[in-house]
Amino acid sequence: MLVVTIKKFPRFADAREHYRFTQQTCLSPVIYDVGGNRIIKMFQIRTLDEKESFEKEAILAKEMSIKNIGPFVHGVFTTSTKKGYVLMERYSTDLMETPPKSWDDVKPVLLKLACSNVIHIDIKPLNIVSREKSDMSRDYRVIDYDPTFCVHNNGYGYAIMVILLNLSVLIRDPTHKLLFKEDIPPIGDVLQKMEDYRELYSRVIWHYFGRPLVKEGINLSSPHKDALAALRNSISYENCMEKSVEYFYSVQ
Ligand SMILES: Nc1ncnc2c1ncn2[C@@H]1O[C@H](COP(=O)(O)OP(=O)(O)O)[C@@H](O)[C@H]1O
Ligand SMILES: [Mg+2]
Repeated sequence: MLVVTIKKFPRFADAREHYRFTQQTCLSPVIYDVGGNRIIKMFQIRTLDEKESFEKEAILAKEMSIKNIGPFVHGVFTTSTKKGYVLMERYSTDLMETPPKSWDDVKPVLLKLACSNVIHIDIKPLNIVSREKSDMSRDYRVIDYDPTFCVHNNGYGYAIMVILLNLSVLIRDPTHKLLFKEDIPPIGDVLQKMEDYRELYSRVIWHYFGRPLVKEGINLSSPHKDALAALRNSISYENCMEKSVEYFYSVQ
């Protein structure tokens, strides 16, 4: 079992000194660039639940760092102001901002994640980061190991993550060709295995496909526009797992 040492600092300034943060630039509501090609992700720890959630995410982030699936984790710390932080390597961009040249390049990291026994139910372009390597190829890493969206795998993790990634990409770019469809087992098997995660999956899909959210991303000239619109009109919270998976299998 992986043990993560959580350093305790009285004040944030003490952590800043210890880790030699040279700047604090806000990149998103919870992410700050702290210099030296590092970022911190901040967590509120006001309740026992929040504490447990922070510790679980820190452990998963560390585990994924060791396996070269997530960014390298330099340290985990808390301050007496009821905040927790994961200090990790900064990547240059996420896939929302910079889509990959070929989605096949992203496949290995998803496979590795699935093989590591974890299904990330919030897999989407915003939760995959990349940077250029010295040989000009790109290094892709999965981020955001919120324990409410990470479940242990039963062998279908890759299929579930590919379906999620496809759906989240298709919503924003409905002209997109489906990714790695040939790697995915038959629809019946996937649906049966996903039953265990129905609640979690449905919450995420409903969030993606919730009508107000979807509208803005639709490209009106897309060949999939009508199919996506039909999907949106036919799904409810109760059936969104089946509908979204069927959609994935039906679109070429
Ligand atoms: N290690 C990193 N390198 C570069 N960008 C990152 C890194 N971690 C997070 N980000 C950026 O910050 C955003 C939010 O981080 P994330 O961990 O997904 O938090 P949230 O739980 O708020 O979604 C990501 O979508 C990504 O753009
Ligand atoms: Mg995220």
